[in-house]
Amino acid sequence: MNLPSFLWLWKIAAWSMGLSLLAYLLLAVTGFWMLRVRTSGSPPFFSPITGGRGGVRSLHYTIGISMISLVLLLLAIGIVGTLGHFGSLGHSSHLVAGLIVVVLVLLSAVSATQISASRPWARPLHIGTNIVLFVGFAWVSLTGWIVVQKYLP
Ligand code: HEM
Ligand code: HEM
Repeated sequence: MNLPSFLWLWKIAAWSMGLSLLAYLLLAVTGFWMLRVRTSGSPPFFSPITGGRGGVRSLHYTIGISMISLVLLLLAIGIVGTLGHFGSLGHSSHLVAGLIVVVLVLLSAVSATQISASRPWARPLHIGTNIVLFVGFAWVSLTGWIVVQKYLP
């Protein structure tokens, strides 16, 4: 593949990353909104967590699935682009950063599906994973921004 040096592919990566960060922000807002409603002791029928009244929970879930899709797209773009250009992987710490972010996002998603009264460990795991994910996102963005420089004209 000898298209204008993969620049178009890294542009998609940059846009997807912007959308992922936006999704993360919205997940943080809706997540902590649910947490506040749950711990404020308001009657359950007014609670948006149950999916009635505004359905903040299903909004949180939908944005979550969008963020997972974007991160998997970024993984695919990164691997395809790197293999296409070099024929091998592992040219910088961006690889480790990318893989860690993918693992964290999947762990966050799996722990989210486990949140229930009978599994008290799931909610702290979900919230903890997402706090670490913030650092992961910063790291993958920084290293991605550095490696993309060599493709710029
Ligand atoms: C990976 C995608 C994500 C999915 C699929 C997801 C899904 C869920 C689900 C199903 C719940 C349980 C709601 C409940 O019934 O109590 C939940 C809770 C929560 N999520 Fe997420 N979430 C995701 C990402 C995030 C992110 C990135 C953050 C924050 C930065 C976040 C913050 C929270 C918080 C704080 C709660 C606890 C709400 C409470 O204590 O009631 N989530 N999430
Ligand atoms: C969640 C976000 C991301 C994931 C999971 C991810 C994943 C990956 C992976 C696994 C590789 C292969 C690295 C290697 O084998 O050395 C890669 C390469 C690459 N990614 Fe990302 N990436 C992400 C975000 C970004 C961003 C925001 C940019 C900037 C536009 C970017 C630009 C690149 C570039 C330019 C390469 C080629 C590496 C090189 O030439 O050394 N990535 N990505």
